[in-house]
Amino acid sequence: MPSPHDTLAPLLSAAIATAFGDEHRDADPVLRPSQFADLQANFALPLAKRLGMPPREIASRVVAELDLAGVCSGVDVSGPGFVNLTLADSWIASAVRAVSDDPRLGVAAEQERVVVLDYSAPNVAKEMHVGHLRTTVVGDALARTLEHLGHNVIRQNHVGDWGANFGMLVEHLLAVGEGSEAARLVETDPNAFYQAARDASESDPEVMARARARALALQERDPETVRLWTYLVDLAKHYFNGIYAALDITLTDADLAGESTYNDALPGVCAELEAKGIATVSDGALCVFLPEFTGREGKPVPLIVRKSDGGYGYATTDLATIRHRVEDLGADRVLYVVGAPQSLHFQMIFATARVAGWLPDDVQVVHVQIGNVLGEDRKILRTREGKALRLGALVDEAVDAARGVLDEARPDLDPGTRHTLARQIGVGAIKYADLSVAHDSEYVFDLLRMVSLTGNTGPYVQYAAARVRSIFRSAGVQIGVGEGEEARRIVIGDPAERALALALLEFGSVVRGVGSELEPHRLCAYLFDLAQTFSAFYEACPVLKAPDAESRESRLGLCATTFRVMEQGLALLGIATPDQM
Ligand code: ARG
Repeated sequence: MPSPHDTLAPLLSAAIATAFGDEHRDADPVLRPSQFADLQANFALPLAKRLGMPPREIASRVVAELDLAGVCSGVDVSGPGFVNLTLADSWIASAVRAVSDDPRLGVAAEQERVVVLDYSAPNVAKEMHVGHLRTTVVGDALARTLEHLGHNVIRQNHVGDWGANFGMLVEHLLAVGEGSEAARLVETDPNAFYQAARDASESDPEVMARARARALALQERDPETVRLWTYLVDLAKHYFNGIYAALDITLTDADLAGESTYNDALPGVCAELEAKGIATVSDGALCVFLPEFTGREGKPVPLIVRKSDGGYGYATTDLATIRHRVEDLGADRVLYVVGAPQSLHFQMIFATARVAGWLPDDVQVVHVQIGNVLGEDRKILRTREGKALRLGALVDEAVDAARGVLDEARPDLDPGTRHTLARQIGVGAIKYADLSVAHDSEYVFDLLRMVSLTGNTGPYVQYAAARVRSIFRSAGVQIGVGEGEEARRIVIGDPAERALALALLEFGSVVRGVGSELEPHRLCAYLFDLAQTFSAFYEACPVLKAPDAESRESRLGLCATTFRVMEQGLALLGIATPDQM
C-alpha cells in the first residue's frame, strides 16, 4: 500500500541515478511535509559537495529526469535547492481507495519475527503502583501493535514471586490462617498484608527467626512451605487479574513467568560465568566487572550474581531469563518495558549476556524505559488524599469522572448504556494519558484533564470516532457494508477532503513506526491529528447535505475509512471505541 513517501522516494532515487550515475542512487532523498507543497525533497544540498555543483542546478537536473505522470500535479525547485512536490488529486483518490479496500487499512504485514515482550511485572503481596500501571498499558499496546504487524509476540509477565521476603510472608500467612480475612488482603489490599507481615517479624525476634528459617525451607523446596507460597501467589494472581480485567489488558495466566521460574537455573548461570572467567569472587561475592561500567573515580561497578551468603538476586535471575528467552523461546527481539530507574541494571545484564555468549549480535534487546508518573506536587505519585494509592481505586475514580462528563453531555442515555460508556471512556482516558506521552518522559497524573473532551485526550479521539459513526446512523447506512463499493466512489475536490485523504494514507507508516521505534505515542499523535483533520473536513464539507449525490457518496466513503482507521488505531492502543458519546 504505497504512501506518498513510499511512492515518491524510489522515483526520486531513480531520477538521481539517471542524472548523475548509479553510484549516487543511494543518496537518501529525505522527504518532509512542507507548507508550500505536500512534500519537500532535500537531496541536492547533501549531493552538492560530492558532485561539486550548485545545489539548485542538481535539483533542476533531477527534476528534468523525474517521471511523475499520474502521481504529482506540480513540482518545482525552491530556495537553495529543495524540490517541492504536490500530489495529484487523482493519485490521492486512488491511493485512499486502495487503503479503504484493504482490510488492513494500509498496514502491511511484516516478515514474522519472534518478539519476547516483558511487561507489567508486578510483585506478589505488594500493591501494583502507577509505575506498574504504565508498563502494563504501554507493554500491552506494543503487544497488540506488534501482533497486528504479523509478529509472534511472546508475552512474559516477570512477576516478583521469589526472594527472602517470602519467608516472612509465609510465616504471616500461617499466623493469620489460610482463608482468613487477613490472608485475603493479598488479593484485596496487598500492601496492608505486606505491612502486617513486616510489623510482625520486626517486633518479635522469634518471628524474625522463623521467617529466616522459612525462607531457607522455601529455597530447599520443603513441600509444605511450597504449598503455602503457592497459596499466596494464587491470591496475588487474582489481584493482578482483577486489575487486568478492569483495564482490558491481554495478559493471562499463561503469560506468567515470574522470578521463581528461573530459580533452578541460577547456580548454572554462576558456574558458567565463573568458568568463562567473566565473573570473579570479590569480598566473598561472585561479581561481573565490565570495563564500560565504572563509578566514581573510575572504579568498576560490579554486577553481583551471587551474594557472599550464597544467595542469588534480581540480576542473576535476569541473566537466566535472557538466556531462556534467546535459547528456548527463540527470540529475535527481546523487549523490556520497565521503569527508567532500572536502566543501569539492564545495560549491565545485556552487556554481560553478550560477553557470555547468551545474546548473539543478531538478537535485538531493548529496555523500553518507562518514565515516572507524578502527582500534582511533581513528586512520584504514591499517595492520594494522604492514603496509599490503590490502582483499582484509581480506575474507579476515572470511571466516575467519565460518568460525570457523560451526565453533563448526554443526560438522555439510559443507565445501562451510560454504565458501559463510562467504563470505556474512563479506562480509555487513563490508557491514552499513559500512551500519549513519550514512554520515557514523566507526566503529571491529572484525572480531570485525562477525561476531558477537549485537548489531546482519549475521550477526544473516542468522541471523534463516535461522531463519524453517528453520521452513518443519521444516514441510515451501515459502516463497512459494501466497503469496496464505497471506496471506488471517492473523489477529491475540496482542500479539506484532500487533507483528510492524505492523513488516512499515513496510517500504515505510523503503525510500522510504532513497531520499529516502540513508541505508541506516535499513534496517539496521529489519531489526535486525524480527529482534528476530520473535524475541519466535517465543518467545510457537508456530508449528508452534500451538493450532489456523487460528492455525498465520496464523503461517506471518506467518513467510513476515517472511522475504520480510528477504531483500528484505538484497538492497537487497547482502547475501546464507544458506540456513541
Ligand atoms: N518486578 C519488577 C519491579 O516491580 C519488574 C520486573 C521487570 N522485568 C525484568 N525482567 N526484570 O520492579
